[in-house]
Amino acid sequence: MDYSGLVELAAKAREHAYAPYSKFRVGAALMVDSGNVYSGCNVENATYGATICAERAAVCAMVASGERKLVAIAVFSVAIPPATPCGICRQVLAEFAEDAVVIVATPSVQTEFSLAKLLPERFAFKDVP
Ligand code: THU
Repeated sequence: MDYSGLVELAAKAREHAYAPYSKFRVGAALMVDSGNVYSGCNVENATYGATICAERAAVCAMVASGERKLVAIAVFSVAIPPATPCGICRQVLAEFAEDAVVIVATPSVQTEFSLAKLLPERFAFKDVP
């Protein structure tokens, strides 16, 4: 499948990033099984810990629209090498996909990973026996 449009959308979302503390602006755009796309950007906070990454912002937009089956996500920054999703975001992405294409991109580099490889042995909730 062609996910090239996702990178463009992620770059556009990055323009809205609110990152006055780190100045590290990130955009994300994801596609669900229906082909619909949702985007997000990082939203920092004066308390630092309340910061929301671009990937999780995109996941929240997806869920708020009634969608739950993540197929691919693009993350756009200007870091070298391109920023990959943090640990918390990997687990949040894994909540909505057994596996998914994870594209990390900058204006000049694009690398593709698989979520399953980025998050081996993920936590899965099990009822206590
Ligand atoms: N950040 C993201 O939004 N996504 C990533 O994949 C890596 C980090 C944000 C969080 C924070 O606002 C800034 O980048 C620096 O860590």
